[in-house]
Amino acid sequence: MRSIVKGVGHYVPENVITNADLEKMMDTSDEWIVERTGIHQRRYFTEGKDTTSSMGARAAEMALERAQMKKEEIDLIIFATLSPDYNFPGSGVLMQRQMGLSTIPAFDIRQQCSGFVYGLSMADAYIKSGIYKNILLVGAEVQSNIIDHSNKGRHIAVIFGDGAGAVVISADEKETERGILSIHLHAEGEYAEELVLKHPGSIRKNRMTVDIIENEEHRAHMNGPVVFKHAVSRFMEVINEGLEANNLTPKQIDLLIPHQANLRISEYIQKKMGLNDSQVFNNIQKYGNTTAASIPIALSEAWEQGKVKNGDLLCLAAFGSGFTWGSTFVRW
Ligand code: ACO
Repeated sequence: MRSIVKGVGHYVPENVITNADLEKMMDTSDEWIVERTGIHQRRYFTEGKDTTSSMGARAAEMALERAQMKKEEIDLIIFATLSPDYNFPGSGVLMQRQMGLSTIPAFDIRQQCSGFVYGLSMADAYIKSGIYKNILLVGAEVQSNIIDHSNKGRHIAVIFGDGAGAVVISADEKETERGILSIHLHAEGEYAEELVLKHPGSIRKNRMTVDIIENEEHRAHMNGPVVFKHAVSRFMEVINEGLEANNLTPKQIDLLIPHQANLRISEYIQKKMGLNDSQVFNNIQKYGNTTAASIPIALSEAWEQGKVKNGDLLCLAAFGSGFTWGSTFVRW
């Protein structure tokens, strides 16, 4: 039994925030942002219009249309996000309601930037076990409102954006070549606090207090240099793990879509692996880092641009908060 990606879609909110816009909010410059991250602009949600679940639904509808499938055929939702609409219930059920899906089960999963690759492994396992046949996997984030836009948070604020991506993954009993070839996942909780949003969480008796707000502890915290150091080595390790497992070499990769963490991280991996420009897809320049949404947004755009063709060997790789990381190889 093979798990095939039958359709891919994305949605980004219309509100474009350029580096010049950020210059008005904090002491930063287009030059600093582009040099360190490669990002020129990102999208921010509009309150009252977009939510994590509604953006997920828009992306999912596009994926279903491209898969030429009806929503009634879907039998499981996996929704990856670090920024759900509510603390509970999860965004999966909210998306289910918005899309008018029947009483199929809905997971929310929380592996941050690795959420999409972790979600793929769940979808693949459910399909291979014969439990579900058509799975909607969504990565969606609203992060613009968990960012500290003061000078204190400027190293984070310039990186993150909002958006959603989705895939339909289906079972194919006859296929022997195409589909998900392997998935490799890892986690290392030792570094949990290096990239974290602590509050409101359950560690404090009062989940939200004046001092939490005054100290901006309800905003994301990131130790940039530590994240950078671990990201580059873990990305390389886990891509190589997948290459070895499938007896492949970097030259055989038609397209690497790394989680869009930071253009400098992608470029470092590309150089170290000896990949040429046509073998790596990046769109962080336009959307910033959209965490669990970044890989499916990039996959959707690469597909639209004709860069993902039948028979191509794709590698999707991620690293993020947790730390968590993973890779998958897919024959399209
Ligand atoms: N504009 C101008 N100056 C800034 C900004 C900004 N937006 N942010 C920080 N600075 C300043 C700092 O205050 C500091 O100034 P100082 O030397 O006077 O103290 C200086 O720039 C360097 O600050 P660092 O935080 O050390 O900057 P660094 O060179 O490490 O770059 C960055 C920061 C871009 C975040 C880098 O650490 C990085 O890329 N880390 C990886 C993190 C990442 O990619 N995260 C993505 C999310 S995680 C994920 O998806 C895996």
